[in-house]
Amino acid sequence: MEQIGDKIRALILEIQAHQPNLSALNNSQEKKDSSKTERYTILTAPSEGCPYGECDGSGLITVVDNQKGEVFVRMCQCHEIRVIESKLKFACIPDEFKDLTVASFRVDLYKHEDSRARAALAKRIAVNFVKHFERMQEKGKGLYFYSDTKGSGKTRLAASIGNALIKQYRVSVRFITTKALLDEIKSTFHEETGLTYSSVIEAIKQVDVLILDDIGTENKTGWVNETFFNIMDSRMTAHKITIFTSNTPIEGLKHDEKIRSRINKMAMPVAMPEESIRDALAQKENEELQALLYR
Ligand SMILES: Nc1ncnc2c1ncn2[C@@H]1O[C@H](COP(=O)(O)OP(=O)(O)O)[C@@H](O)[C@H]1O
Ligand SMILES: [Mg+2]
Ligand SMILES: [Zn+2]
Repeated sequence: MEQIGDKIRALILEIQAHQPNLSALNNSQEKKDSSKTERYTILTAPSEGCPYGECDGSGLITVVDNQKGEVFVRMCQCHEIRVIESKLKFACIPDEFKDLTVASFRVDLYKHEDSRARAALAKRIAVNFVKHFERMQEKGKGLYFYSDTKGSGKTRLAASIGNALIKQYRVSVRFITTKALLDEIKSTFHEETGLTYSSVIEAIKQVDVLILDDIGTENKTGWVNETFFNIMDSRMTAHKITIFTSNTPIEGLKHDEKIRSRINKMAMPVAMPEESIRDALAQKENEELQALLYR
């Protein structure tokens, strides 16, 4: 419980950082309420489930207007937090990248000068993409992070953009690897999963921001091409944002030309460094542990 409380408090601080007026607004609201305590009776018993200690954890407060003899429900300050939490949960961003921000994407970790230059540019693009997201949404323009080298930070950067968009713009985001997406769709052919083939695809078509991880590694059978075309065409027409990661540039994708051209229209390519940060981090960790173990 304490842990959840900490997480929610951290979220509140983050939200207030983006919306400095929120705390002022809440404070003035509090004053208004407390000055009218005779007129209003609050029926909702506050519980520990609310980080503000105002509601029962549901995000709603039931109030009686004694003058009018009416009962109404108002939103608790924690409602916003709950919306963001549920969107973060819906996004299915892997645990490894769940709490990561664009700002904490490190450029200094790359050894080579040209890698640092690419990483710095990619980070700047990510920062500006989040900043100008509404404009990007109007144009329906996403991003396509690519590099042949595994562990260079493509998924890291794409996932942290997703986190930022949920917190700053309250959009719906869904992270999924291409393989998992195809497996999910395929599984609905055979099993009684409760999801039909079309409802899985429908959900993927409709989400505000789709993060499609590792496109290009899947087998391009007929139905895969057909499925991708179906999804991409619909998202392109609806100006929905898709953020791709791949180990190949768009022109190197072995999908049908009509899919490639749609991806080209839907996303700005961003070259990532050809250097593995995962290896660098593992090496650093080993060196630290060696110092401990060989002492
Ligand atoms: N610039 C960076 N700053 C901090 N950590 C990074 C950076 N790039 C990669 N990492 C970390 O290295 C690991 C591999 O990165 P990942 O994004 O999965 O690589 P890719 O998707 O390119 O294969 C992850 O644990 C990630 O958090
Ligand atoms: Mg990756
Ligand atoms: Zn509350």
